[in-house]
Amino acid sequence: MPALELTNVRKTYTSGDAEIVALDHATLSVAEDEIVALVGPSGSGKTTLLSISGGLLTPTEGEVVVGGRDISGYSAQQLTEFRRSSVGFVFQSVNLVPFLTARENLVVVNDFGRRRGRKEARARAEKLLDELGLQRRMDNLPGQLSGGERQRVAIGRALMNEPDLVLIDEPTSALDTKLGEQVMELIVSEVKGRSTAAVIVTHDARMAHYADRTVTITDGVLAA
Ligand SMILES: Nc1ncnc2c1ncn2[C@@H]1O[C@H](COP(=O)(O)OP(=O)(O)OP(=O)(O)O)[C@@H](O)[C@H]1O
Ligand SMILES: [Mg+2]
Repeated sequence: MPALELTNVRKTYTSGDAEIVALDHATLSVAEDEIVALVGPSGSGKTTLLSISGGLLTPTEGEVVVGGRDISGYSAQQLTEFRRSSVGFVFQSVNLVPFLTARENLVVVNDFGRRRGRKEARARAEKLLDELGLQRRMDNLPGQLSGGERQRVAIGRALMNEPDLVLIDEPTSALDTKLGEQVMELIVSEVKGRSTAAVIVTHDARMAHYADRTVTITDGVLAA
């Protein structure tokens, strides 16, 4: 069973009188254990595709099946529950909780997910932050971290609950250093052997090299 299956997904936005077609007949199947790199120019529909895959936006037409569940017909409440339990997101604009430390930003999402015990959640958060090269920044607030460090905290938070689907939107500055390879290797190890799948938006060929497959998108149309 594919981890993610988009079938003929169309998404239009209305902007004043104009209708913008952000995704047009997008069909994509991502297997369990598979990492797909999604590349395409600005405005081509990458964030829209991730948002629809993770149940943040509903498609105008078409079907979205995640882990065998057809989420296209879910209510807002079902979508919220689905996102909390099954999806790990890293957005382009990192939205960490500003008054929580790096460690606490990971631990806090435990309540939405597998609900490990407090001690176990803390241990998992520390292990992830350590692998993300943040062992000495765990007690810092987001405002005390660099942009790339904040992105790496967001990656840790997305992986915290072992989601079924990991969706990462352009973690460029988190990955353009030497640490980038280590971060990608962490993402690979979290996805492989855990029946998880990942879609990672990137402009960086070095990152795409960690993916099993690259899919390009141009003006809302996918191509292998
Ligand atoms: N809420 C919205 N209302 C109207 N138009 C939108 C909205 N969100 C996105 N769009 C438009 O839909 C198209 C696809 O946007 P999307 O954000 O998916 O692109 P993207 O590939 O992620 O771009 P970037 O690389 O710049 O992040 C663009 O033309 C954008 O202007
Ligand atoms: Mg985008």
